Amino acid sequence: MTILIVGSGGREYSIGLALHKDKNVKDIYFAPGNGKSGDIGQNINIKDLNELAKFAKDNMVDLTIVGPEAPLTEGIVDIFEKEGLKIFGPSKEAARLEGSKAFMKNFLANNSIPTAKYVETSDFSQACKFIDSLNEPIVVKADGLCAGKGVIIASSKDEAKNEAKRMLSGESFADAGKKIVVEEFLDGYELSIFAVCDGENYKILPAAQDHKRLLDGDKGPNTGGMGAYAPTPLINDELYEKIEQRVVVPTLKGMRELNTPYKGVLFIGLMIVKGEPIVLEYNVRFGDPECEVLMPLLKTDASELFYKAAIGKLDELKIEFYDKYCVGVVIASENYPYKSSKPSEIIIDDIVDSDIRNNTHISYAGVSKIDDKLFATGGRVLLCIGLGEDIKEARDRAYGLCGQVHFAGKQFRKDIAYQALRV
Ligand code: AMP
Ligand code: GLY
Repeated sequence: MTILIVGSGGREYSIGLALHKDKNVKDIYFAPGNGKSGDIGQNINIKDLNELAKFAKDNMVDLTIVGPEAPLTEGIVDIFEKEGLKIFGPSKEAARLEGSKAFMKNFLANNSIPTAKYVETSDFSQACKFIDSLNEPIVVKADGLCAGKGVIIASSKDEAKNEAKRMLSGESFADAGKKIVVEEFLDGYELSIFAVCDGENYKILPAAQDHKRLLDGDKGPNTGGMGAYAPTPLINDELYEKIEQRVVVPTLKGMRELNTPYKGVLFIGLMIVKGEPIVLEYNVRFGDPECEVLMPLLKTDASELFYKAAIGKLDELKIEFYDKYCVGVVIASENYPYKSSKPSEIIIDDIVDSDIRNNTHISYAGVSKIDDKLFATGGRVLLCIGLGEDIKEARDRAYGLCGQVHFAGKQFRKDIAYQALRV
């Protein structure tokens, strides 16, 4: 098979790594890829989605896998499918589950899927009325895509009103905030569930946990995610069953009823409150860095999983995972997440410890190759991934690898997977 992967981050690189060792895969293209993906495939620099479809046709691409949400919400799947190409991801209409928080909240309510009490509005006085009816803290969200930054957790009613005003006036998030969702705060722990879907059938992947804050102990600003691990012990069979029956099944059914069957990765962000799953959000793609810890656990050929999902034949597939744990630690550049940092050369020591060498790898993200040298040029630069028989072993190996990677200003959290190790 020839596969095209759309995106440039650690998520896309990790999908590429899984496909690279897959016997069914001959060639991999990345659009645009990063400074290291060219080593496991070929980077191509085509931004226009119609041109990309032409490239896929001309180069006999059998399957395209889309990583980030932006091309999905722009309709890449519709464009490719119109050309008769096979592509893994939701249509533009289905991608509204992530593209619009208001659409998502209404969808949840219409399908009786548990979610926080909310109001969706463009009207400041309506927002204030609802804010007055809630207890603090209060959550205020911009409707549109804001690169993960459009959610404010206000500790007082005044702060919530102030944030609502700033969003509605366009001051804080421009057009993305002209409509807002105000909702009750849910007090519990977060879980990410990923279901690979083909419109009708689905396969649930092991539950993963991300670490969104920059600093140890979940302090500091929100980021895209500073590390993840899977499977997490914060879930059991009973909770999986509740999530499937109360969330996954009604979501797929609801999407079919809207004539927008959901195909692709359905990423369900849940808050578990007193043992009950409550939906915080959907994303229409893999999480990053969750994907980087899920791909190494996949025993089934990745090409088969994504291809069968793309052609609506997931019912034919028996999905298998390794009976192991995976921990991924993000190494970020100096000024992340505030501003960009000066490029700095990445040096990786020879790894002499065979235990670390055989059970770890790097998933590259914000890196560029300049004169054959590798430079850290993005916010989240790379992930050190460790596998083990238990979480502690996987974590120790991942951190062992972190010690072998050097570049000026490198920063990473030292406590990835702490919640699992505390259980
Ligand atoms: P979202 O983009 O909606 O997932 O929100 C981003 C983050 O804000 C979530 O991962 C949670 O940590 C937090 N959050 C969002 N909504 C709520 C809520 N209703 N209660 C508590 N925390 C929330
Ligand atoms: N890791 C969270 C996300 O990808 O949105």
